[in-house]
Amino acid sequence: MSSKDMSGQDISGTDTNHTTAQWVVDPNVDEHDPGIREAARLLLLGETVAFPTETVYGLGADARNTQAVERIYTAKGRPSDNPLIVHLADRAGLADIALPGGETIDRLLDVFWPGPLTVVLPARPGALSPRVTAGLPTVAVRVPAHPAALALLRAAAAPIAGPSANRSGRPSPTSAAHVRADLAGRIAGIVDGGPCGVGLESTVVEAVGGALHILRPGGVTAADLRRVLPGVPVVAAAEHTLGAAEVPRAPGMKYAHYAPQGRLTLVEGAPGPVAERIRSELAAAAAVGERTGVLTFAEHLGRYPAGFADVTLACGRLGDPATIARQLFAALRQFDEAGVTSIFAECCDESSGVGAAVMNRLRKASAGHILHA
Ligand code: TXA
Ligand code: MG
Repeated sequence: MSSKDMSGQDISGTDTNHTTAQWVVDPNVDEHDPGIREAARLLLLGETVAFPTETVYGLGADARNTQAVERIYTAKGRPSDNPLIVHLADRAGLADIALPGGETIDRLLDVFWPGPLTVVLPARPGALSPRVTAGLPTVAVRVPAHPAALALLRAAAAPIAGPSANRSGRPSPTSAAHVRADLAGRIAGIVDGGPCGVGLESTVVEAVGGALHILRPGGVTAADLRRVLPGVPVVAAAEHTLGAAEVPRAPGMKYAHYAPQGRLTLVEGAPGPVAERIRSELAAAAAVGERTGVLTFAEHLGRYPAGFADVTLACGRLGDPATIARQLFAALRQFDEAGVTSIFAECCDESSGVGAAVMNRLRKASAGHILHA
């Protein structure tokens, strides 16, 4: 059920000519919901509509329609050599847009679809707008595990290109309010299905030779992949060590990403020295007029009593990395809302659960500002 009428609520901004509709949907929504049907109708007319997935909100457009896909790049301000992920309602539609990926990929799809895993496959020539793949011979595809996303994909019965629904370079949106803050007035509508469960984007993988390469760490961990692929080497991309002349295999990896407006500095080291270093950095920043923030975890909150920073946020629990992933992007946006200009962040363990994906996003958000305590 949609809690609003079919015309949606006007939440348009003032800087562009779009009226942005919004449909609030129930957690168990299906493709017969009037809001979902209206959103699907707009997609098929070539408009852009944001929708929730289990990872982050996506900005959808008909992947077969070049004009529609152009609208994604325009709304986001996204560099046009960065290709988009295509979303499908189910695996049955895969053969229409991609060529077979082989045994390793089939095994992954058996286990992880629907879910936060994107596979890069040879594109079926002519099936999609060339703007989706940014000229590459491959296409990135996933079936999301979110009832509202699946309802929309079923109602549209079309492959839907969907990057994260943020302005390019900003933290990905994990709620409809985040999408609104970035894109109201620039897109046709937003399906509001509440907050996202995973909180970080999908894992992007590609089978290369006999190995599986992780092009972007995400909701499915390397350990998850290894568990279901005995005997297949699973290779994590070392994206932050790429030299300027090297071409990253996932083109999106070379852009500034996930960044709050304030400058984010990561502080690595043992917990005690890290907290000590952050407290002294905060004092130094405050002394030169910065509005300061600290990003920590529930277990370490006591190390930053009131007065050390203007804004202190505990982003999940170290003991449960999934909670960190779920809250990370919202926390980065909260610093922006509070006008914080200088943020110091602790690190979490990269070797467990989604820790690798969390640290990948934090490193990118820091743009290389990393201190060792
Ligand atoms: O969880 C997610 O994946 C979200 C939700 C909305 O599904 N989508 C998302 O899309 O994060 P986007 O466009 O923000 O990220 C797509 C990533 C980029 O790093 C891009 O370079 C890579 O996937 N990619 C897309 N097509 C590719 C291709 N053909 N080969 C290699 N990498 C590709
Ligand atoms: Mg993105």
